[in-house]
Amino acid sequence: MTNPLVIGNWKMNLLTAPACELAQSLVDRLSDARGVEVVIAPPFTSLYSVSQIVKGSPLGLAGQNFHYKSAGAYTGEVALEMLKDVGCNFSLIGHSERRSLFGETDEGVNKKIHHAMGLGILPIVCVGETLEQRNAGETLTTIESQLSIGLTGLSPEEKTRLVIAYEPVWAIGTGVNATPEQVVDVHKFIRKYLIESLGFSEEIGVRILYGGSVNPENSKQLLKEKEIDGALVGGASLNLESFCAIINSAIEP
Ligand code: 13P
Repeated sequence: MTNPLVIGNWKMNLLTAPACELAQSLVDRLSDARGVEVVIAPPFTSLYSVSQIVKGSPLGLAGQNFHYKSAGAYTGEVALEMLKDVGCNFSLIGHSERRSLFGETDEGVNKKIHHAMGLGILPIVCVGETLEQRNAGETLTTIESQLSIGLTGLSPEEKTRLVIAYEPVWAIGTGVNATPEQVVDVHKFIRKYLIESLGFSEEIGVRILYGGSVNPENSKQLLKEKEIDGALVGGASLNLESFCAIINSAIEP
């Protein structure tokens, strides 16, 4: 069984100095952590400095987004090769904020996943429904469509190198987390769909994380569920004590 994965998505927060301070404190705290994999996703501007701190430590580094082309005339964009160059071994893809605020599509997500696979970067693919979709009973069909388009064309080997993050849009940054029951239902659906419709291996399995208002008060309850393989944490990952408490609840569910 793989270890739980806890990812801190710092979003558009922290200047370089506080980012380095938080990364250093995490490295110090995690030096002897066992049984959990921890990754942080700082903003682009602090990635290089943070990479110098996490180098050689168990703490992984992720990008929050990238362009699917390797280089070229794409003003304002960042290539995944550039993220790899500064030490990233993971990247988020298709976060709901990218989808809703910056027009990211499932087709675009698919291009990015293929690009990440080619570079050996582990893609963390985000899916999730809006409140309107949940209220209309469209949660599972929404996720099915995000997965079927987003994951098109992966080889059997590539299917073993993918992490899914279920992040219901209504739970992100609202303080209202999905209940463990709601998360388990969706994770079971995702797992079944990946195996039965998209040809993922049942034996190898795929890690499915939950994200959306995860905090030290609810993390134990969520992470004790065997269907929930870890957490994608936003706001609470910006605070050392909160993030460490969430990490600890992944170790001792
Ligand atoms: P919050 O934990 O702040 O709700 O954010 C979740 C998220 O979007 C992580 O990617």
